[in-house]
Formats: sequence, structure tokens, C-alpha cells
Amino acid sequence: MVPAVLCLIVVLVLSFCLFYTKNKQHNYPPCIRGWLPWFGVAFQFGRAPLDFVEKARAKYGPVFTVLAAGKRLTFITLHEDFNTFFTSKDVDFQQAVQDPVRHTASIEKDSFNKNHHMCHAFIKERLTRSNLSVFFADLCDEFNNQLKLMKQEGSDDLADIVRCLMYPAVMSNLLGKECCPNCQTEKEEFKKHFLVYDEGFEYGTQLPEFFLREWANSKTWLLTFMENIIFQAQKNKPSKADAKTLLHHLMLNITDKFVSNYGLLMVWASLANAIPITFWTLGFILSEPSVYKTAMQEITSVFACKDTTNITVTESDLGSLTYIKCCMLESIRLRSPGAITRKVVQPLRIQNYIIPPGDLLMLSPFWAHRNPKLFPDPEKFIPERWKHSDLEKNVFLEGFVAFGGGRYQCPGRWYALMEIQMFVSLTLYKYEFTLLDALPKPSLHHLVGTQQPEGPCRVHYKQIK
Ligand code: HEM
Repeated sequence: MVPAVLCLIVVLVLSFCLFYTKNKQHNYPPCIRGWLPWFGVAFQFGRAPLDFVEKARAKYGPVFTVLAAGKRLTFITLHEDFNTFFTSKDVDFQQAVQDPVRHTASIEKDSFNKNHHMCHAFIKERLTRSNLSVFFADLCDEFNNQLKLMKQEGSDDLADIVRCLMYPAVMSNLLGKECCPNCQTEKEEFKKHFLVYDEGFEYGTQLPEFFLREWANSKTWLLTFMENIIFQAQKNKPSKADAKTLLHHLMLNITDKFVSNYGLLMVWASLANAIPITFWTLGFILSEPSVYKTAMQEITSVFACKDTTNITVTESDLGSLTYIKCCMLESIRLRSPGAITRKVVQPLRIQNYIIPPGDLLMLSPFWAHRNPKLFPDPEKFIPERWKHSDLEKNVFLEGFVAFGGGRYQCPGRWYALMEIQMFVSLTLYKYEFTLLDALPKPSLHHLVGTQQPEGPCRVHYKQIK
């Protein structure tokens, strides 16, 4: 027993020294590795990763590596290095995400490497700004129809209200009516499984399904749901000219057995970030009386004379709703994704350090947006700061990286901005809301995606006649 323990101690000390000298020799960034080989600081990091990152930056400087569960995550935090992250040939998007994609959507690496670029290209092409008019009128109808199903008066959790109204409308609009959960039970079932899948997505990228029974069940339910939809849609497979929805384009482009798996990822990408941001935009507006008042003045002046039950929102209306747009962008800034990633494929120089191949290079939009030099008074919700950006041309403020950047920047960003602005304006025009709880803090438990609220946020709502 004693020799075994001694051996273990020697191995631990040697591996620590080996790592340490290797780090020094190669001028790697400071590495936070804890005492456990391989596990590193996985437990401390996993408990509250966003908090961990900020404390590490304060202690170790702007570039540092976190060793967690066999992975080296190298965080860069200086604005001046972001361009390298987005454009360097020494980092790779596909290699960074292929394992998470395999775990969360069961898509094999070969299929992913073959199809990813083409998938990104067709989504980007369909959702480019000049093509949004294709989706505009139908999305407005969908929102009107969902809002008609809401009670005239009641109280509920704001995040849940947003999900119930937006999930079916957005899915129907982007993927086609056949993709929209129809009856109330199917809607509830979809919402339940999507929530579990989304909530566990980050763990799903790391852990075997064996440890995540409930998550794995929901993933299977969603995959079967997608298979059924695609089976129905295959019966009238469109020609290229008839292909209108993203689902049609997916079916035309993906010819291997993983088509429904890609469908699931597409649905996840289209809902997982935009829906929490819609919640935050409404939440921030409602929690500041002066902001609510200004927002309502703008909405009522733009929608004046329109029938409240079936409002037709036009592209020019959205162009006039500039204050709502500022509120939305400010909400995105404050609740941006915890981190985005690239795999280092060639030694990469950042500041005076060399980042070795194999590291996952990490950039946190959430923290980048709290840089006081670029965003004065960064924790404050100040919609007015967006007046300095060219909103008409959709030029964002310097340092705003919520949608990533470079070749694989979010292809759904223009659609996201349109749907959130349209939904928030319509909902506030039709219903008067009062917050019953204080606006919750964002949960710091996730690195993937935009921030979820830490707790419930009940509201009272009443239809405006
Ligand atoms: C406020 C809402 C949204 C935010 C903040 C957001 C943010 C992001 C970010 C940060 C990325 C990774 C980019 C990178 O690594 O450089 C991404 C990827 C992606 N987003 Fe979005 N997104 C939003 C809404 C949407 C919507 C509505 C759609 C679809 C309609 C969408 C579709 C996608 C897809 C398909 C990818 C993966 C691209 C690829 O694999 O190449 N996103 N998004």
C-alpha cells in the first residue's frame, strides 16, 4: 500500500514538473492546472465558468490557459487580439466544434467535415439581409396568431410566455408549417424536451450520455420529432425552385443519413440564443419605467391607427422603431454568449506567448462587452449608447462580438435582429406588462450561448384594447 501511494506521489510531482518546465520553455501562457493531472481544475471551472474566467484574468493577465478534463482552454481577453481569433489561418472552427457536434447531435466527424461548410453557406444565403423580406410577412402573421392565443389577462413567468409564443412561430416561419408543433400537447411536449436539451447542451458536449439520462431522452425525442417531419416533407420533396424554407434547403443539400440530426442542430441554433435575448429585452424595458415609457411612445406612434389584433409590421416600421432596436442591441451586449471557440492548428503568437496546436482558443463575448474603454459604465443598461452606431446599415459598436466573427460568424444574425425587434414591438403594443419579481441576474453556469435568467421573473399582463 505504502509503495503504491509513494509511486502515485512521484508520478504526480513529475507530471507537474514536466508540465511546468514545458510551459516555461515554450513561452506558453500561464496555465491554471490545479493538482489533479488530467482533471486539472475541471470541478472549480465547471461550477461557475464565467466567474472563473474573470477571476483568472484578474490574477493571471490577459492570456491564460485553463486545464480541465484533459483539455487546454486558452482564453484571450484583449480586444486587440480578437481579429487574430477570427481571421488567423492557424485556428480552425470545424475542428473546435466537431466533438461537441458528435455528442449533442450524433453527427459523425466525416459527415460533419464534408457538410459543415455547405450548411453554413446555405443558411447564410437564405438569411442574408436582402432575403429577409421572404420571411417578413409570414413571421408577422405567426406572431399575431400566437398572441391571439394568449389570455386577455393573467400572470406567468416572462421567460415561459416568450418561449410559448416564439417557439411555434419561429419554427413554422423558418422551417415550414409541417415543422411547427401543432396541437397544445405537442407544443408542450416540444417545449419540455427542448428546454431539457438546451439546458443540458453544455454538459452534453462533454459527458457520455450515460451520465445524462434525462438529457439523452430529450435528445432522442427531438431527433425522432425531426425524423418524422423530414419523412413527411420527403413525400413532397421540393425541386430547387420550390425550396422555400430552411428545411427544404437542408433536405436538398444533405444526402447522408444524418439529415434529421442536422435539422435538430439548426432548430437548436435558431432558438437557443434568440429566445433568451427576447426575454432579456422585454425584461430590461419593463424594469426601467423611463425606458418602458420611451419604448411605448415610439411603438404607439409607429403603429398608430393599426388594428391591434392583426398588425402588419412592415420593414419600414422596424426601421422607424430605433429605440426598440437600441434596447435589443443593449440586451444582446449584456447577455452575450459566454464563450466561442476555435482549435489552434499551428503554433499561434498572441501577445508574447505561443499557443500550442491542440489548444482550444476561447473568446468570451460576455466579458468582452464589459470592457469599460469600449462600453463606458459597462454593467448598466444604456440603450442610448447604440445611437452612436450606424443602425440603418447595421454597423455595430466597436468591440461588439455577440455574433462571433470571421468566416463562421452567426449566419442567423440578421434574422435574429428582425424577429426579436418585431416580437418585442408587437407584444408591448398588444399587452400591458407589470413585473411582479425583480429582473433576475444572468446565470453564470454556462459558457455556451446567451445567458439564461438565474430565477423566475413573473409578470402580470393585460391586453390593451
Ligand atoms: C441573438 C441571437 C443570436 C446570437 C447572439 C447568436 C450567436 C451566435 C454565435 C456567437 C455563433 C458562433 C459564431 C462564431 O463562432 O464565430 C453562432 C453560430 C450560429 N448561429 Fe447564431 N446567434 C443568434 C441567433 C441565431 C438565429 C436566429 C439563427 C438561425 C435562424 C442562428 C443560427 C446559427 C448557426 C446555424 C450557427 C452555426 C454556424 C456554423 O456552424 O458555421 N443564430 N451564433
